[in-house]
Amino acid sequence: MKIKIAPSILSADFSKLALELEKVKKAGADLVHVDVMDGHFVPNITIGPVVVKYMRRSSDLTLDVHLMIENPQKYIDAFVDSGSDMITVHIETVSLRQLREIKKILNKRRVKLGISLNPETPLAKIKPVLKLVDFVLVMSVHPGFGGQAFIPAAVNKIRQLRAIFNKDIAVDGGINNLTAKLVKAAGANLLVAGSYIFGAKNVKQAIDSLR
Ligand code: DX5
Ligand code: ZN
Repeated sequence: MKIKIAPSILSADFSKLALELEKVKKAGADLVHVDVMDGHFVPNITIGPVVVKYMRRSSDLTLDVHLMIENPQKYIDAFVDSGSDMITVHIETVSLRQLREIKKILNKRRVKLGISLNPETPLAKIKPVLKLVDFVLVMSVHPGFGGQAFIPAAVNKIRQLRAIFNKDIAVDGGINNLTAKLVKAAGANLLVAGSYIFGAKNVKQAIDSLR
């Protein structure tokens, strides 16, 4: 599978988002990861649909929107209208019924659906929904902040998931040149990285090293 790299905008300079998007696009990013946090599901607050709308206007990069929020179904329309290309919700925040409803909306609007699971959530939790989703986002840190250390247990989770799932497996949290090797070997093909990419002197070199 082709390895895709998604810089997480959470680690960018928000006073010049358009330039940051341009920078990672030029450096070879395949898509851009947008972390949405509500201060309830995670202990941090970031951005909402308004900012996604302006990111959409200033870049043609694929927008991969990671919803770390409670009641995601309430905000799906707003994030689709803002121009999201991919939307990930957490298994910890939706029922099977809600996820089916979300899928219906996203299918109609041609937006891809991802399911994510926290480090402490067992793989078994998402097994019943694997047929519904276009990709899985495995969290390799406790969501909420950029710059945390990679949790090694994610590697086994990815390996077990790869044995039963042949679509995109994304991994998010603590990805750098070393941890990238581990998760790729286990079967992940979409690597999200924030601090490693935006903190690098040479962004292209950082992205190439992940690939
Ligand atoms: C964590 C976010 C991640 C974060 C990754 O809650 O979901 O996308 O931005 O940042 P790094 O790569 O610095 O761990
Ligand atoms: Zn994320």
